[in-house]
Amino acid sequence: MCGIAGYVGNKEALSILINGLSKLEYRGYDSAGISIICDGNIKTVKKKGRISVLEEFVKNDKINGHIGIGHTRWATHGEPSDKNSHPHTNTDGSISIVHNGIIENYIKLRDDLISKGYKFLSDTDTEVVVHLLDYYYKKDKNIKDAVFSTLNQIEGTYALGIICKDYPDTLIAARKGSPLIIGVGENENFIASDVPAILNYTKKIYLLDDGEVALINKDLILIYDKNKNEVKKDIFEVTWDMESAEKGGFEHFMLKEIFDQPKAIKDTLLGRLKNDYINLDEIKIDKQILENINRVYIVACGTAYHAGLMGKKFIESLCGIPVITDVASEFRYNNPIIDNKTLLIVLSQSGETADTLAAVRLAKEKGARILGVVNTVGSSIAREADDLLYTLAGLEIAVASTKAYTSQVVSMYLLANLFALELGKISKNDFENVKLTLEKLPGYIEDILKESDKIEKLSKEYINIKNVFYIGRGLDYFICKEGSLKLKEVSYLYSEAYPAGELKHGPIALLQEDSLVIGIATCENTMEKLVSNLQECKARGSKILSITTENNNIIKKVADNIIYIPYAGEFITPILANIPLQLFAYYMAINLGRDVDKPRNLAKSVTVE
Ligand code: G6P
Repeated sequence: MCGIAGYVGNKEALSILINGLSKLEYRGYDSAGISIICDGNIKTVKKKGRISVLEEFVKNDKINGHIGIGHTRWATHGEPSDKNSHPHTNTDGSISIVHNGIIENYIKLRDDLISKGYKFLSDTDTEVVVHLLDYYYKKDKNIKDAVFSTLNQIEGTYALGIICKDYPDTLIAARKGSPLIIGVGENENFIASDVPAILNYTKKIYLLDDGEVALINKDLILIYDKNKNEVKKDIFEVTWDMESAEKGGFEHFMLKEIFDQPKAIKDTLLGRLKNDYINLDEIKIDKQILENINRVYIVACGTAYHAGLMGKKFIESLCGIPVITDVASEFRYNNPIIDNKTLLIVLSQSGETADTLAAVRLAKEKGARILGVVNTVGSSIAREADDLLYTLAGLEIAVASTKAYTSQVVSMYLLANLFALELGKISKNDFENVKLTLEKLPGYIEDILKESDKIEKLSKEYINIKNVFYIGRGLDYFICKEGSLKLKEVSYLYSEAYPAGELKHGPIALLQEDSLVIGIATCENTMEKLVSNLQECKARGSKILSITTENNNIIKKVADNIIYIPYAGEFITPILANIPLQLFAYYMAINLGRDVDKPRNLAKSVTVE
């Protein structure tokens, strides 16, 4: 994900910026750039690729200066390229900015600015900010006022670093929704999107709050709230070392990414849920196209396939369109029936999985329309799809996918609702409820995450368990499949997921006293049947753990332990049930001493068939 570093002081800014950016490399990025005020002018260098590519370019340039901003970009709007890299400058090069976050109303702002004569050089949402700032600076004649006027026009999220040729001693920072800190040094100050970028220089920081703007000189830091009133802040002393700082204080990336989920969902929904429609501007499938489609396939691998199973159920239930879901490696060799009336929906975190990509190419060759649900901007699948839905989960580092999965499921739910609205299958009232529930989803996940200590403690009770069966019905069964995969991946315990009613047709023979059966119980219409299935397991001596909604009393009859989650409706509650399963898999792996971030034999991106 994008990273920001900024410096003002007596030292040469270039090496400090490069050093700061390189400490943010672990977050992943596709391009890097810097702007420095050098001999009274802003000099900007930005390059697609690694920081080493940027370093090579600046090596022989004499970019000497004591104030500057730097950025590593992880593409969201516009492919990775030199022109889309940050910093972005105004037309005469007198103002330069770096930005993390998403400007939601950038299309409208861009159109307004174009009508005022501004020319855009990139495909990014960020570029509107620098031109808007230029516009207000020419009007207000004061950079602080111009920054506030600009921010008043922006909807969405931002962490901004700004330099202006007319203010050669002042670094400007602003924040709303994306993290930004100010590092406090001796005769020098810093800005950064994350602590590692400044840890080599200082451990004293100010944490900017939403709506705040800071004007930073080498020996003075002025912070203003959104009403331009000066605010006094306490200095925060960083106590972490570098490694834990990169993981945001979490012990493993997997745990960090589990806790990233409320933000990943917020980002995935940002700007997409409108009053009576869903804004997915890279999907051009209207009623006429939908009515012309004779077959829908959802194809993916691994965890993404499990998100696809949820998607099948959403589309079938909400739109009444039958959907075939398949794993990509099977789909390709099963002689799938594809023509120009086929819609192929593919899900992929990386956008590079070999089998999924090959499925895209095969279906395309036969005339199908391809809709990609992808996390990595500019990836092969993103480029080759006809319609695109970015999951915006952010960079996922741990091999076991967590936040990408949740964002994929939420994206499939958005897609199903989009189609249902187009087809007139759901009313505005129904959609209002969908919207309200989705808006509450990040908060519900936060509530479950607050219980992580209890799940950790609970996992210790199962240290001697030899095999784990996950059972559920309906959507809960698909959640079981993902829960079981997660446990296998990181703990190496033997595990199976079964539709609860199917257990007695074979797997029940494996149940013994050292078996754990996890019953996912959110589907109300099959609750009694699930309880009976759990009774059958209990009768064979197995331990029973259930994940269910608050007030489910019937499950108490059979479960030894229960993890409660909030009720959020038929389609969203199962998504919530997945969160304790991720935590359970993580803590079981920790109990067994596994290397959770790099499980044996597994790869994050599988680019071979
Ligand atoms: C690998 C990863 C999984 C992922 C699967 C599909 O197996 O370990 O976490 O779900 O590939 O990857 P994709 O990038 O296409 O979602």
